[in-house]
Amino acid sequence: MATTESVRSSTDMSDDFVVYVNGKKFTDKHVDPETTLLNYIRRKLRLTGSKLSCGEGGCGACTVMLSKYDHVDKKISHYAINACYTPVCSVHGMAITTVEGVGSTKTKLHPVQERLAKAHGLQCGFCSPGMVMSMYTLLRNNADPTISDIEKCLKGNLCRCTGYRSILDGFKTFAQNGCCGYLSVCNADQHNETRLNLSVDLKDCEPYDPSQELIFPPALQTKNWFQTQTVRFVGESVDWIRPTTLKELLKLKTGLPTAKLVVGNAEVGFEPRPKNIKTTLISATHVPELNQIDITDSGITFGSSVTMSRMYDVLKRRVDELPSYKTKIYRSLMEMLEMIGDQQLRNVAGIGSHIMSASPLSDINPMLMAADVTLIVASHKDGERTINMDNTFFTGPRSTCLKEDELLISLTIRFSTKDEYFSGYKVNNQVHRRDRDVAMISAGMNVCFEDNSDVIRILTLCFAGTGPTVVMATDMMEHIQGRKWDECLLRDVQRMLVEKLEMSKEGGFVEYRKNLLQSFFFQFYLNVQNELSQQLPGIVFPIPLSYQTTLNSMELPANSSTQVFQGVPCEQSDDDPVGRPVMNESSLHLTTGQALFLDDIKPEQDELHFALVISKQAHAKILSIDTSEAISQDGVHSFVGAVDVPGNNRWSLINPDNLEEAIFATEEVLCVGQIIGGIVADTPQLARKAANLVKVEYGEVEHILTIEEAICKESYMQPFRHIEEGDVNAEFEKSDFVVEGEVRVGGQYHYYMENQCCIAQPNECNEMLMTVSTQNLFGVQMHVADALGIPAHKVTCKIRRVGGAFGGKDTTTSTNLAMACAVAANKTGKPVRLVLGRDTDMQCTGMRHPFLLKFKVGFNKDGMLRALESELFVNAGYTCNLSVIIVDVMMHQLHNAYKIPVYSMTGKACRTNVQSNTIMRAAGTVQPMAGIETIMDLVAAKCGISPEKVRAMNLYKVGDSDNFYQELPDVINLKRCWNECLLKSDFDSRRETIDHFNRTNRWKKRGLAIVPIQRMTGIIGIVANQGAALVHIYLDGSVLLTHGGIEMGQGLHTKTIQIASRVLRIPSERIHINETSTDKVPNATSTGGSAGTDLFGTAIKFACETIMKRLEPFMLGNPEGSWEDWVHAAYSHRVSLSATGFYKFPGDIGFNWEDHRASRLQYHFMYGAGCCEVEIDCLTGEHQMRRVDIVMDIGRSLNPALDIGQIEGGFIQGYGLFIMEELRYSQKGELLTRGPGMYRIPWISDIPRQFNVHLLEGSTCPGGIYSAKAIGEPPCLLGVSALVAIRDAISSARSDVGLHGNFYLNCPATAARIRLACSDDFPKTSKEVADDYFVRA
Ligand SMILES: Cc1cc2nc3c(=O)[nH]c(=O)nc-3n(C[C@H](O)[C@H](O)[C@H](O)COP(=O)(O)OP(=O)(O)OC[C@H]3O[C@@H](n4cnc5c(N)ncnc54)[C@H](O)[C@@H]3O)c2cc1C
Ligand code: FES
Ligand code: FES
Repeated sequence: MATTESVRSSTDMSDDFVVYVNGKKFTDKHVDPETTLLNYIRRKLRLTGSKLSCGEGGCGACTVMLSKYDHVDKKISHYAINACYTPVCSVHGMAITTVEGVGSTKTKLHPVQERLAKAHGLQCGFCSPGMVMSMYTLLRNNADPTISDIEKCLKGNLCRCTGYRSILDGFKTFAQNGCCGYLSVCNADQHNETRLNLSVDLKDCEPYDPSQELIFPPALQTKNWFQTQTVRFVGESVDWIRPTTLKELLKLKTGLPTAKLVVGNAEVGFEPRPKNIKTTLISATHVPELNQIDITDSGITFGSSVTMSRMYDVLKRRVDELPSYKTKIYRSLMEMLEMIGDQQLRNVAGIGSHIMSASPLSDINPMLMAADVTLIVASHKDGERTINMDNTFFTGPRSTCLKEDELLISLTIRFSTKDEYFSGYKVNNQVHRRDRDVAMISAGMNVCFEDNSDVIRILTLCFAGTGPTVVMATDMMEHIQGRKWDECLLRDVQRMLVEKLEMSKEGGFVEYRKNLLQSFFFQFYLNVQNELSQQLPGIVFPIPLSYQTTLNSMELPANSSTQVFQGVPCEQSDDDPVGRPVMNESSLHLTTGQALFLDDIKPEQDELHFALVISKQAHAKILSIDTSEAISQDGVHSFVGAVDVPGNNRWSLINPDNLEEAIFATEEVLCVGQIIGGIVADTPQLARKAANLVKVEYGEVEHILTIEEAICKESYMQPFRHIEEGDVNAEFEKSDFVVEGEVRVGGQYHYYMENQCCIAQPNECNEMLMTVSTQNLFGVQMHVADALGIPAHKVTCKIRRVGGAFGGKDTTTSTNLAMACAVAANKTGKPVRLVLGRDTDMQCTGMRHPFLLKFKVGFNKDGMLRALESELFVNAGYTCNLSVIIVDVMMHQLHNAYKIPVYSMTGKACRTNVQSNTIMRAAGTVQPMAGIETIMDLVAAKCGISPEKVRAMNLYKVGDSDNFYQELPDVINLKRCWNECLLKSDFDSRRETIDHFNRTNRWKKRGLAIVPIQRMTGIIGIVANQGAALVHIYLDGSVLLTHGGIEMGQGLHTKTIQIASRVLRIPSERIHINETSTDKVPNATSTGGSAGTDLFGTAIKFACETIMKRLEPFMLGNPEGSWEDWVHAAYSHRVSLSATGFYKFPGDIGFNWEDHRASRLQYHFMYGAGCCEVEIDCLTGEHQMRRVDIVMDIGRSLNPALDIGQIEGGFIQGYGLFIMEELRYSQKGELLTRGPGMYRIPWISDIPRQFNVHLLEGSTCPGGIYSAKAIGEPPCLLGVSALVAIRDAISSARSDVGLHGNFYLNCPATAARIRLACSDDFPKTSKEVADDYFVRA
């Protein structure tokens, strides 16, 4: 057998790695083939603009542009790629552009960066460099894109903050058919000049000039050398060989049978590598035969390494040129190719590698099989042979019929014939749409008829997702031959699909998957019948008119939007920024990648890296921990565990009397993901590898995962909560109707784009400097001090910005990680960095609580509520931390905006063995919305009146108090929001249009719903409602602000600068904030509860006012003087130019459970209303939000651009909870839905096609700073409007099959739940299918 050495000697190989980055050449003699491109550019080249977030190609944060010169076509091509799984060696001899090469504030901004910033298309900004790179690459290939091109190019980029609308608006200005781009009143009320929208003002932007772009490196254009020379790079555990001839490649494959072929690395990159065995990767990207495309009379032959993007382009050209009957297969394939992953994936993934990966979930393979594709395979020994991709091709899980030394050379896809019909189908459960994700079930279907007849010659049905491999339903196909294409055939095939096709339980959703098989065939049947009816009129009847919409997939019109807000009063000075839509103060640094997040900070020279060892068991005794193999690795420094904690290993977030948390688990683990210890090593990769070598022996103990199990076993945390008003039973007696039911809402992961991370740096005198991506620096400081056994003044905690948090960096996890990292730094005496990967982050972090509501409601037949008895439960996880507080909040929110005169409610937190669940944006207030709004629908259904009427009649009125006995001072705004939302959304006339649509369509249904909200803002617990600030004025007149709040995308720093600018009467440009740090502002409240601006903004205001008071004499003495003159004068008179500010929320905040009285639970009441229209596909459960209108009362907005951004982002996050984001566990308690591939958050195509936001006019808030109400969280609640609209659409589908009245829809209302709730008359499975594959905690 050949070794890599002997193979090497037989070829002419070069060993110097060369890459051009941002036009500069880099040569590397020792490139490590195991390194990804992202790691290389971030660590080695120190270009940190491109970010690491998921590390699995699912979020686009790492997007860069790859440029190549094609020496045959003599053309430069640019591709957006994900650097996180691209092996650095694969870009040898190519050019890479990162966000730093696109533009900078120091040189020149690129219009893409500038317009994204000016459109307010960012909040935390962690996703911004990736967004910029996707858009920039599009413009490099097409300087004149359409809006649809822009939307498509952003499909691979996730943003958790903005809700995408503003990103699209910024980029739409580049589109041929984009908006005018000018700040205008075009979408607003023309008669009120104080109303504005937020479009980018192109007058203030640089025009886009494609000729000014960075040139492609001439050296790569003139010399073909890099592309034709075989290269080999040798690393410690991976070797990389890139042959350039087929002969060489086949020889290598024979000589190195265990070597892996790589094209895009999108599959190989994620496969586990064998331990302690060197791997050889053979790149198949530079072999001409594998990149060849031949067009013949019978079809097109694609070389195996042809990328999916290139294949799409070639198919498109043929489709445009050839008669349509010849390209039926091509058109279907193109549609499917567009749904495979995202452009970043398709730009690198080979079509041959896709086939050879033999994935049981492949979307393309069933289609290629159904299209009877022929393949050429070859080996060094036996040469070439041709095979068919038929039912013998896939031989088992991830295996094909190719021999061990054979490679796939090419595939030929034939033209279709006149009597042939072809389609491909795919649906994913969690989301409404097909694209971007691996399917739950996908299918390829082909039928050929006898000449000019409806008699079937061959029907081919192929499926993925049914079992361990792609299958062809051959048994069934034989039965069908010779039959007519009629309804009888339809029913027979549908029945055989559920009865004969074996469906594995692996992957769960058995019932839904079986349903999809039938739905897909039904759609195919209708499509073919439709075409046949045109070919054979009189023989085949047209499909019913009400079925026509099944012929097209859900259309996606271009997104449009309006944002309407009040302008500032005309008498306000132009220099006063308060109330104006001012851009985020860091915008330009974020879009250029110059802004530094924690992991972008340059490492100290002796810095080490920490990787966690976490529990793999839900509940177990730790019998032993064997670290010997891990710490024997070169470059590994130490294992750190409980014995290394010099202070206290046990701690608690809020209750010092119950130290329920442990930094490191000792005798017992209570959930999967609990931290047991960690490895400190020279590099993060080494630390992670060694952490995997730590062996923990467990003694399993019985565990509880779900709320239902906890109820059964009475596993609760104390105290329970109970509150009641009146006698519910007596009221039920008097009610016309009494109905009982329950509603369940799953958990939600925060999905901040920047994973949890921290750096601990030991300094002299036993000091520890902590840089932590947290919302709660003060909490971290106190707990780190306790863990290290040192006073708090020796621990300094700081952070400049956080890449999204949403509550997930406020709690146990970020504090525990910081403590663990500090212990590691203390033990090693070196700076230690801990950056979690997405996978570990999801396992270690507590999430939004899963929720169960059991209720009994009594009401009159006119829809008026009389009494509600409710029992609510949350899954608290393995420790209590904030769970009982969350239950309190839930009990308050349960009645939402409705007056329920008599009630009894009980709340319980269940103790289970999942991660300790915690706060998340709008904590405790979102989940109950699904409960109360389901109740309102149920009441409406029972009374036979419209849900909006029931909601309107039960709204709080002036003079009412809420269910916690609080007066509602400005409750009039609730009704105003409601009425305005009805008006703005044109509710009544759209209701009629939708009813008409539903009457005339059987399989697509539309739903419309309007929902009000009433919610509290502020932080529960009086102590937390305080904020402090420090303001320095320097001699040159510049101002430095510091306050206790954390900037995590909500725009807190921007708003505090606006406030300081107003008080100091100087432009914002003279004011700066650099970081938040415990040594500047001590004892700061955690930033959350929408309270940041109220607390820290007011503290800044007070500090600035103090300084202004001191400057007053100098201003009066020199009224014509400038700001600088007054500052100089004050300094000369030895007047302090530094001041602190402190603000506490006046009065008491809290609830006394003994006497059931609230002192006050909130700063102010937030009101709003949201109207949502959806369309659902009853056959698949997919849906699309067609339009959303929101009216929010936020008093007088401090910054309408930021506030509208919070409303849109919050709404989309709430939509994610109610509709999409599903956490599923194994029976053993392991979270299975990890990473963006499995846990889907909303992305750009999910947002409503029309998204209108209106800020309620004429509202003020006397208690808020400059009359503003807090806004960060309440809009999440409006996401429930999508759930209610979906319920409305489902009701229509159910009434078509005679099912009237109420039904329950748990959250998230995934495609599976929607499909199964719709009901139909398809053949049913003979036996009930128990779907017990997953656990939903
Ligand atoms: C983020 C993401 C999203 C995705 N979304 C989808 C989706 O929506 N639908 C879907 O179906 N799939 C999806 N996938 C899977 C994706 O389609 C495959 O991973 C991809 O096609 C693999 O291509 P590659 O070139 O990167 O493979 P590589 O990892 O480079 O190679 C894959 C395999 O092919 C073998 N191979 C390559 N060339 C040859 C050859 N000439 N002869 C023999 N063997 C060969 C290799 O040895 C290797 O085992 C997704 C993957 C990712 C990472
Ligand atoms: S980090 Fe690369 S795609 Fe998410
Ligand atoms: S701004 Fe997009 S993730 Fe924060």
